[in-house]
Amino acid sequence: MKALVLSGGAGTRLRPITHTSAKQLVPVANKPVLFYGLEAIAAAGITEVGVVVGDTAAEIEEAVGDGSKFGLEITYIPQERPLGLAHAVLIARDWLGDDDFVMYLGDNFVVGGITALVEEFRDSRPDARILLTRVADPRSFGVAELDAAGQVVGLEEKPEHPKSDLALVGVYLFTPLIHEAVRAVRPSWRGELEITHAIQHLIDTRADVRCTVIEGYWKDTGNVVDMLEVNRTVLEGVEPRIDGEVDLESETIGRVVVEEGARVVRSRIVGPAVIGAGSVVEDSYVGPFTSVAENCRITHSELEFSIVLRDSSIVGVGRIESSLIGRHVEVTPAPSVPSAHRLVLGDHSKVQIRR
Ligand code: TTP
Repeated sequence: MKALVLSGGAGTRLRPITHTSAKQLVPVANKPVLFYGLEAIAAAGITEVGVVVGDTAAEIEEAVGDGSKFGLEITYIPQERPLGLAHAVLIARDWLGDDDFVMYLGDNFVVGGITALVEEFRDSRPDARILLTRVADPRSFGVAELDAAGQVVGLEEKPEHPKSDLALVGVYLFTPLIHEAVRAVRPSWRGELEITHAIQHLIDTRADVRCTVIEGYWKDTGNVVDMLEVNRTVLEGVEPRIDGEVDLESETIGRVVVEEGARVVRSRIVGPAVIGAGSVVEDSYVGPFTSVAENCRITHSELEFSIVLRDSSIVGVGRIESSLIGRHVEVTPAPSVPSAHRLVLGDHSKVQIRR
């Protein structure tokens, strides 16, 4: 069995972060979200992995390499434009050959891994197996309709009037029958070859499509709210570890990781929180569910429920909450007169200012 990991895409919902970098590399507890997926694939005993890449190919390849650090053999499959999940299967046809495969969306996060699912698929080998989970508002997902016996009878992509609250999780198990289906579908109104349409084609042609409703935790990290939420969940499980320096005037409470080379000076850190290597937290408060990546500077500030990417500084600005801050960002106070905000914001930035 092989794995096909989708790491291209446009990432419009995570702009401006995705203007300059791949959304699959945004760190969760200071590790790229994509790495959790690759680790889950390796744990399931799969070694041959095809990674579909788009505009951010160079960055993904630099981070993941040949896959040996995960115990994987990785082949990169370039996708010239993000033309849909089924298009990714289409262009991977030659590499996939006639093997069964798990398709894994590189920005998805599944707690508990995929080992049991992969084993079950190897044993029972239906034509396809999809994963579903109950969501509060299914309108932004692929949604499945089941019959009384729990069989999938229909799938709809982002329906206005969902027929159930069962959303498709970004992990799919396929036999080579899917290749016929992706060739059969036509682009949707949004111009993409939809995997939901390809699976619907399998259902319509009486293929054996089964589903598993997962009770565990799953999130698509495609937007900021979900990204912060996944970060929160992962941080809740970190083992506390102080490898850097925490001075005597500082206090760390709960699950706190201070990486080697990081310094905490006259500050209070309430876990779960991670302070990345080489970062300095000075005269500040870092509150629960916060990840500060490498080489950041937090001075005279308060930070909670946030992710700060590497090489950024937050200096003398009071309290920041529920924020995703990119790389090489500077957040500083404005001069006291005139009383005004001074902003240099990239395209598609989002700023919420307290009046
Ligand atoms: P999506 O999040 O559905 O799409 P997107 O990346 O274009 O994001 P947005 O909706 O914010 O514009 O993609 C799911 C995963 O699949 C993600 O890791 C990107 C990847 N992907 C591809 O590799 N190729 C594609 O053609 C598409 C649409 C997505």
